[in-house]
Amino acid sequence: MRLKHDASAMRRATDPKEFGRVAVLFGGDSTEQEVSLRSGNAVLASLKRRGVDAHPFDPAQRDLAALKREGFARCFIALHGRGGEDGSLQGALEYLGVPYTGSGVTGSAIGMDKLRTKRLAHAIGVATADCVVLRGEQDLEVALERLGLPMIVKPATQGSSVGMSKVLTAAELPAAYQAAARVESSVFAEPWITGKEYTVAVLQGRALPSIRIETPNAFYDYEAKYLRNDTRYFCPSGLSVPAEQHLANLALAAFDAVGASGWGRGDFMIGPPGRTLLLEVNTIPGMTDHSLGPMAAQAAGIEFDELVWRVLETSFTRVRS
Ligand SMILES: Nc1ncnc2c1ncn2[C@@H]1O[C@H](COP(=O)(O)OP(=O)(O)O)[C@@H](O)[C@H]1O
Ligand SMILES: [Mg+2]
Repeated sequence: MRLKHDASAMRRATDPKEFGRVAVLFGGDSTEQEVSLRSGNAVLASLKRRGVDAHPFDPAQRDLAALKREGFARCFIALHGRGGEDGSLQGALEYLGVPYTGSGVTGSAIGMDKLRTKRLAHAIGVATADCVVLRGEQDLEVALERLGLPMIVKPATQGSSVGMSKVLTAAELPAAYQAAARVESSVFAEPWITGKEYTVAVLQGRALPSIRIETPNAFYDYEAKYLRNDTRYFCPSGLSVPAEQHLANLALAAFDAVGASGWGRGDFMIGPPGRTLLLEVNTIPGMTDHSLGPMAAQAAGIEFDELVWRVLETSFTRVRS
């Protein structure tokens, strides 16, 4: 009993019983496990508050086939990073015939890969920063020549800024490359963008109000994301109405380009000449009550529990074929 995606099957639920028995998948074994634990616990508590028959399930600890044996009707995926956000779990659930929230196999796999996201976004006219793929030390010289300094070096398929660093001088580049390459083999460099940072959450085909992020760190790194309390978030973000609309359109277009669906978030930077550049698409953004998606939802009048409920509704589009 495989699943297929049918956007027309999307509907609003009014009764928690419509969801049946729900597994909240969180924990996992990626570099973002800790964030997943926070997201998953927040989601689980929220669903229970709304009367949903929700249970925790950690795919790193248990066999996924148990989802079927134990009669789960659907899954809320609260895993970030490899294994949970990259399409492999989505594929396994397709095979098991257990509907799940958010993006399918393709959208998840592409969204996880920043390089491929950039290429697809570029192809449909959503601008992203130039980049050089770093396959080894031999490519560092090319990156310096083409991108100049400062630049940022990133692993292509990590989240939470893991393995990323800002490079100010040519001497720092080899260490930055090694730091990223230790995490994974696909690494690239982008020119450093001086400008303001924005993120746009997407829910059920609609863009939520953008958030502007300001951090005292060099960039919005792991520490600024989860540990510091002086990272500042502005929502409304201060953009003019047309600029806000433009950013929303770019987020929806980028979402579509990677094949994402249901819910997620696009990260952007707007440089001094007003050029808006897509950084990445997140198909399973953080869902703690301090996360960016919930903050944007709140600004649109959608409380945390309502947001969690609506994300769970996105699983209705995964129908048995
Ligand atoms: N080209 C760039 N120039 C300046 N800052 C950047 C650039 N790319 C990323 N950053 C900073 O690094 C952070 C993380 O980058 P991002 O591509 O969104 O990856 P992830 O959030 O998956 O770790 C961004 O939020 C931003 O603060
Ligand atoms: Mg990001």
